[in-house]
Amino acid sequence: MIFRQLFEPLSSTYTYLLGCEETGKAVLIDTVVPSMSRDLAELKRLGLELAFTVETHLHADHITAALDLKQAVGSKIAAPAFDRLPCADVGLEEGKPLQVGSVVLQPLHTPGHTDGHFSYLVDDRVFTGDALLIDGCGRTDFQNGDADALFNSVRQKLFTLPDDVLVYPAHDYKDRRVSSIAQERKRNPRLGEERTLEEFREIMAKLDLPYPKFIDSAVDGNRQCGVCPPNLPENLAHYCRQITESPQG
Ligand SMILES: [Fe+2]
Repeated sequence: MIFRQLFEPLSSTYTYLLGCEETGKAVLIDTVVPSMSRDLAELKRLGLELAFTVETHLHADHITAALDLKQAVGSKIAAPAFDRLPCADVGLEEGKPLQVGSVVLQPLHTPGHTDGHFSYLVDDRVFTGDALLIDGCGRTDFQNGDADALFNSVRQKLFTLPDDVLVYPAHDYKDRRVSSIAQERKRNPRLGEERTLEEFREIMAKLDLPYPKFIDSAVDGNRQCGVCPPNLPENLAHYCRQITESPQG
């Protein structure tokens, strides 16, 4: 499998490119509007055709480039069936793999950060979205978030995967790129094996995080598979502008 981990600096989002070496078809997990031309350049450089964009969840901190990419190169939009997005071409459900050439994504329903959140297992890698971050996890105070549900998702769906499965999160704010199931089970300060559900509830209840500044525009836009609102205030306009620097990651 061809694999690239691409970083989008505005929302500190990792976009993952998975390509099939035999068919030349590719999938992008969690694209971001400002990095769309970077993604297209990377696909071209690798000689890959984008077959699907895949979402882990309805993001609150950026707008997906799924719709723009569909319009640019004809890729299909795959998103959790749970969210019932009329704009999605394929609704992903647990137990129903998405196959693109030799690349097979196994959807795992991992609610808690949002109720419709999915992780995707691909061989010995798991793309954990905001359910499980390196030494952390996504917040649980918006979008039908639920600390108990997140605890169960991580403990029962993710920490039951083999030790050596590599954990690729949707974000990292400290330049970390990858972890493993064994590492997170051992030392994740919120969800590691020594934590109880009661402790986790308390940690999440006391985070005291600010209201996410882009959430209203982002969730609306992402329900439409990636539409930028027409009247974005100037302080948020960069979320919908292309970053023009050279590809990185
Ligand atoms: Fe999120």
